Amino acid sequence: MKDRIIELIDEVEKFEGATAEKAEQFRLKFLSRKGEISVLFDEFKNVTPDLKKEVGQLLNKLKVAAQEKLDSFKAATENISSSGSTADLTLPVSSFEGSRHPLQIIRREILSIFGRIGFTVADGPEIEDDWHNFSALNFPEEHPARDMQDTFFIDKEIALRTHTSSVQVRVLEKTQPPVRIVMPGRVYRNEAISARAHCFFHQVEGLYVDKNVSFADMKQTLLYFSREMFGEKTEIRLRPSYFPFTEPSAEMDISCTICHGKGCTVCKHSGWVEILGCGMVDPAVLKNCKIDPEVYSGFAFGMGIERITMLKYGVNDLRLFSENDVRFLGQFGSAL
Ligand code: DAH
Repeated sequence: MKDRIIELIDEVEKFEGATAEKAEQFRLKFLSRKGEISVLFDEFKNVTPDLKKEVGQLLNKLKVAAQEKLDSFKAATENISSSGSTADLTLPVSSFEGSRHPLQIIRREILSIFGRIGFTVADGPEIEDDWHNFSALNFPEEHPARDMQDTFFIDKEIALRTHTSSVQVRVLEKTQPPVRIVMPGRVYRNEAISARAHCFFHQVEGLYVDKNVSFADMKQTLLYFSREMFGEKTEIRLRPSYFPFTEPSAEMDISCTICHGKGCTVCKHSGWVEILGCGMVDPAVLKNCKIDPEVYSGFAFGMGIERITMLKYGVNDLRLFSENDVRFLGQFGSAL
């Protein structure tokens, strides 16, 4: 009996049980009512008096060792979830929990500002045909944007869209005015990647077509947007420009958000920074979408989300938006 007890003490010491299942196996073998120790205590009655002291001490040693072992298994397995994970769910969370991407924050803000004056959201495909990206938008056959150097072509007729203006055509082909929409999305251009250019970026396009829509409506809408986005003291100015799909066309500047017109490197000491292109929808575009330009008129605009985000947060390198460095991404709250 002595030998059997010594053997069991050894077995108890060597038993390893990292899971709740193992701990239970251990309990059944050693400490349950029909387990080894219980059986030995029964047999102890038959031990001759001269050996009682020695065997009794050994038996107690075995019992204490088994109980301690079981307690330590229980303490360890209580921290283990049923999936077997050893994660301590009571620890405080790490300081970087993930947050919205800055482009996403600004995209939502732009959509929300236009949403408040009745613009709804539309979208279209990133892989686009020549008609929607160029021809319907009045791009002449020999326009440089149709060149392989500027556009990623998939085949002669299909390319990655170079701007979200293609969505204007998609919507106008299917919807008779009034149309009042904003169209966010990713666009692609065949550019070398640098701090100021990337082969993909994001735009929000805007379109309002109805009876009697005027240039003044456009100006007021864009002034409202600029002040909501950059603060109520923001001023705008429109400079004449050219886009195939608008006539007249303009580029819009806002008063510099960094130096407030005094002159700094962001505005190149002019006090103004360009944020978007805009204009009155060219009658040829309306005709291409089977909308009568004698009845309807409209304005359109397009802005780069990266550009707005850079101005808003003082980011000076476009590449930061796609590098996914948590030291950068962690600096933006999850507002909105
Ligand atoms: N599609 C132009 C671009 O990517 C931006 C633009 C200019 C959009 C004028 C417009 C507009 O809707 O009216 O550069």
